[in-house]
Amino acid sequence: MNRRNFIKNTLLGAAGVLATGTMSGCAADKLLNGGKKMKILVITGSPRKNGNSNTLADNFIKGAKEAGHDVVRFDAAFKSVHPCIACDKCNMSGQCVFKDDFEFVKENIIDSDAVVFVTPMYYFGISSQIKAVIDRFYAINSRIQVAKKSALILTYADTALKEAQPIISHYEAVLNYLGWSDSGKVIASGVWTAGSVNNTQYPKQAYELGKNI
Ligand SMILES: Cc1cc2nc3c(=O)[nH]c(=O)nc-3n(C[C@H](O)[C@H](O)[C@H](O)COP(=O)(O)O)c2cc1C
Repeated sequence: MNRRNFIKNTLLGAAGVLATGTMSGCAADKLLNGGKKMKILVITGSPRKNGNSNTLADNFIKGAKEAGHDVVRFDAAFKSVHPCIACDKCNMSGQCVFKDDFEFVKENIIDSDAVVFVTPMYYFGISSQIKAVIDRFYAINSRIQVAKKSALILTYADTALKEAQPIISHYEAVLNYLGWSDSGKVIASGVWTAGSVNNTQYPKQAYELGKNI
């Protein structure tokens, strides 16, 4: 797909969210992998190894594995993923000029049935580590615009749900553009210091999401 279509589809996709709300996600879910073993790619974005989002990723993965799924994990903060430089050499469907750890994502995302994003909130957005991975989707855009499930796990210090809305909107816009459907979210508010999520209900929520995705 060329740049013009990318922009056109993005705008149409955004309108689709407003027009259809969550109905399209539900309908798509019924077509996707009902009760089947899935390959799930989990992409995390926190540099805190024992931080809150990585704890929730562990719990999600435990549930998903217990449900019989294959899980592949990519910890973006501990990998080397160069930011997209918009050189357009990939033409949105070819080879990226960078040969780095994104190759692992590329190898595993194309045939995955579900992609799970796990990120801390940084200044009301997702972490730059996970954003760099998403931006590199550009090079394989046409190969991942196929039906997949997705989920969002978010941790942040504030207690107000409205603070999470920009990240939820971004996540939903990406899904809408790629044609993926939301299988659930864990929005873990009020967790600041590493480990504080352990005293909450969120690890169980993440585990249940993994079990039921
Ligand atoms: C650079 C930076 C920016 C942050 N920005 C926000 C923010 O905008 N809102 C918020 O509630 N918490 C913010 N936090 C707190 C983290 O979201 C919170 O500590 C979260 O639990 C970290 O997840 P982790 O333990 O998985 O790294 C920020 C933390 C850092 C280091």
